[in-house]
Amino acid sequence: MEKFVIRGGKALHGEVEISGAKNAAVAILPATILAKDLFTIENVPDIRDINSMLQILEDMGARISYLTRSTVQIDTRGIDSMPVPYELTKNLRASYYLLGALLGMYNEASVAMPGGCNFGGVRPIDLHLKGFSALGAMISTDGGMIEAKAAKLIGASVYFDKVSVGATINVMLAAVKARGLTIIENAAKEPHIVDLANFLNLMGANIKGAGTDVIKIEGVSELHGCTYSIIPDQIEAGTYMVAAAATKGDLLIKNVIPKHLEPITVKLRECGATVEEFDDSIRVYAEGRLHGCNIKTMPHPGFPTDMQPQFTVLLALCEGISIVTDSVWDNRFRYVDQLTRMGAQIQIEGKAAIVQGSAELKGAPVRADDLRAGAAMIIAGLCARGTTEIEDIIHIDRGYEDVVRKLGAVGAGIARVDFPDPGTVVPKRA
Ligand code: UD1
Repeated sequence: MEKFVIRGGKALHGEVEISGAKNAAVAILPATILAKDLFTIENVPDIRDINSMLQILEDMGARISYLTRSTVQIDTRGIDSMPVPYELTKNLRASYYLLGALLGMYNEASVAMPGGCNFGGVRPIDLHLKGFSALGAMISTDGGMIEAKAAKLIGASVYFDKVSVGATINVMLAAVKARGLTIIENAAKEPHIVDLANFLNLMGANIKGAGTDVIKIEGVSELHGCTYSIIPDQIEAGTYMVAAAATKGDLLIKNVIPKHLEPITVKLRECGATVEEFDDSIRVYAEGRLHGCNIKTMPHPGFPTDMQPQFTVLLALCEGISIVTDSVWDNRFRYVDQLTRMGAQIQIEGKAAIVQGSAELKGAPVRADDLRAGAAMIIAGLCARGTTEIEDIIHIDRGYEDVVRKLGAVGAGIARVDFPDPGTVVPKRA
């Protein structure tokens, strides 16, 4: 097993390059199923979730080749409609996008209920399934498999009573080849929704309004391959922005779209950090004491829930009391236990965390409960006095490319270290 060992107390200085967006890539890669053709996808992050998705596509019959580390060629001509077993979906929450893509392409899909990151407790997919039903699919669940089937999908009006990134994406995937017009109302507006729509339009789809809360999809009969470059990862960039401010460092974060980072920029400035925006990079630096602020996570363009744990670490180091409310997920404060073991003063009251700032963090053994909780532990470790050891880093590897190299290059004392599985019995010497 592996853990991260961080020797804290060093300010981050220098430049860091952001990789392609995980949440865009997990939607765009299965979208290639919608045409039997050749695709070249650039800016693909080398992280576990994406490598799992590529593995699933390969197991389904696609040919995957790497033109560079971040450019992947996908030949989908060998893919056929097939049930996708739990063996393939168990490590990847977003494998449910295979449902929309297979249904859109073959009018039928059978995919095992996914595993993956579970910070929100039960993560329902009722809205996804309601969307498929609205397009005329019959849905059944049996033996852990979700099946969706239609003689022919027909465009329809789909209203979501709750904003859902996943349901918006899944209905887009299912509707691109349906007969007639699909209108998604109260759609999610995240940057990766727009990225998927741009990709599908380049494949020949007719999608308008992505990035607003009404998306109109006029079905087309054929789609084709294309070359496409995935947007930079908003959350990876935001994580380095917060790490720069929290360590009182100075980072130039390159390959970003500053507009996507605005909700984070605004809050960092409110705390007293300086954020300078350039065309495709952003500089964050901080000196002296920062002050706390209140955060409420909301669907885009609100403050992203996926930045909530990282920002809470910063607030724990700021002066004053901050209130962090997560209005997207019910149960996203599990990591707070780990932070309090490092000396943070945080109390949970229902959907809010009350952060009493100005604590000095002290290194401790902690674990990464999930992907973004893990990122929060890294930031806490970078700021803490002494050594922090983070276990369960498999979660961090799901979403952060080369985190040890990237942080090491800007002055962090971080290493990936092998250690024996505590479950392993070590034989005694004779
Ligand atoms: C995506 C992101 C995840 C992020 C989340 C919110 C990906 C791969 N993952 O997850 O990192 O935290 O958006 O920005 O892009 N809901 C329902 N029924 C459904 C679907 C969702 O009630 O059928 C609820 C959820 O419980 C949650 C809220 O809607 O409270 C938002 O979930 P959703 O936007 O769907 O999140 P994901 O797409 O799973």
